[in-house]
Amino acid sequence: MERNVAALVLAAGKGTRMKSALPKVLHPACGKPLVAWPVEAALAAGADPVVVVVGHGADAVRPLLAQRFPASVRTAVQQQQLGTGHAARVGLEALGEWSGSVLIVYGDCPLLTAESLTSLLELRARTAAPLALWTTRLDEPRGYGRVLRGDDGLPERIVEERDATAEQRRVTETNPGVYAADAAWLRSALARLEPKNAQAELYLTDLVALARADGRSVPALEVGALETMGVNDRAQLGEAAAALQARVVRRAQLDGVTFLSPATVAVDAQVRFGIDVTVGAHAVLTGATALESEVHIGAGCVLHDTTVATGTVVHPYSVCDGARIGKGCVVGPFARLRPGAVLEEGAHVGNFVEMKKARLGRGSKANHLAYLGDADIGAKANIGAGTITCNYDGIGKHRTVIGDEVFVGSNATLVAPVAIARGAYVAAGSTITADVPEDALAIGRGRQQNKAGYAAGIRAKNAERAQKKP
Ligand code: UD1
Ligand code: CA
Repeated sequence: MERNVAALVLAAGKGTRMKSALPKVLHPACGKPLVAWPVEAALAAGADPVVVVVGHGADAVRPLLAQRFPASVRTAVQQQQLGTGHAARVGLEALGEWSGSVLIVYGDCPLLTAESLTSLLELRARTAAPLALWTTRLDEPRGYGRVLRGDDGLPERIVEERDATAEQRRVTETNPGVYAADAAWLRSALARLEPKNAQAELYLTDLVALARADGRSVPALEVGALETMGVNDRAQLGEAAAALQARVVRRAQLDGVTFLSPATVAVDAQVRFGIDVTVGAHAVLTGATALESEVHIGAGCVLHDTTVATGTVVHPYSVCDGARIGKGCVVGPFARLRPGAVLEEGAHVGNFVEMKKARLGRGSKANHLAYLGDADIGAKANIGAGTITCNYDGIGKHRTVIGDEVFVGSNATLVAPVAIARGAYVAAGSTITADVPEDALAIGRGRQQNKAGYAAGIRAKNAERAQKKP
């Protein structure tokens, strides 16, 4: 791999056709903003530094890049969008006296790969050319600059569609907008660009004719259409996102993950998988989600920023956000784990159980219809169906603490702050407002009375009322 490589990512344009308040390059695809994709490809091809030329929406784009790429990535601001050639000038200025190779890519091309960028750098190095570029053959070349080849079979110049003759428009070899150049030559060539075209802009594409005018040749690398696809509107965003999704799924499959219905899942690029993970149909895995080996994710589950340890099963339609799920747990179906939910090894959380800022200790179970919020539950506890931690008094939140091996009967309301010490029992239907000591039985409900023979009386009264009805 070549050592002295810098990259310019041109991303100052407006993206009018997105019809959005959000700058085009910040629209997400597989959980990453568009611009992050070419930046990562350039970094992976060995480029350092990478300069992103920003303009429209710079106030939003710059902090995002600084946060995502604290090292190696800089931004340069193009105040006025005077064309791609001008944007490259602004980017190159930010490199100062840099010498070596400069890759130039457009910020709205998320599918380009480090492998093809590396091949382009190698092609330029091998041919000692001042400039090398990608080309792509398209059945429908509309909208793209056309690559015109000379008698020697090498690119002679690029003509933009607006400036092209009818005959030139019939050329199907197009310019996807990926170049590798020698820094010193690039500096001299960019200074020579002139806005003599239909848009009165500085065209980066004029570099090809300038190199030829210098008596040099410009080799080309043909790259497939999918990889060079640019995003100009939301239909193309959808297509690009689908292609990226297919790549993300394929990489996970090759790493040992089974998708039962690969075409239906939505998996962010940064999600991490161990081996022998199974993911059901329509699962959505986003953010910093990480699944260790032998985890099973059922159909329709939505996991965001959630970690799941080895051997755990998450049954269908569970929704987890910011949860930490330990080894060998069983979750769902229809469980809801909110931020701060922690399940320790072997814990079970069943259907229609909601947890928030709550820990469920080793081997503890809350199998049906419960709300556990701001709670700390020890090991081997049983939380009965319908149990509610009443954590909110209208002003503040309060904690419920439940010790090891506590048994909470069904339909208990635990009014926090309250503590139930280890080994205690809570009778079903209790409202618990005071702490329960170790190994005690707490009953907090009205005592049952049975009134013998009362049923006959009730039936007689009912019959009388029915007769009076008109
Ligand atoms: C450009 C190419 C065209 C190629 C096509 C591929 C030129 C003159 N034309 O046309 O040959 O087929 O891309 O998609 O280069 N940008 C800036 N500052 C500017 C202008 C543009 O940063 O002043 C950025 C945009 O944000 C975008 C990229 O450069 O990421 C391309 O600009 P765009 O206006 O989309 O160029 P095209 O007309 O598509
Ligand atoms: Ca474009």
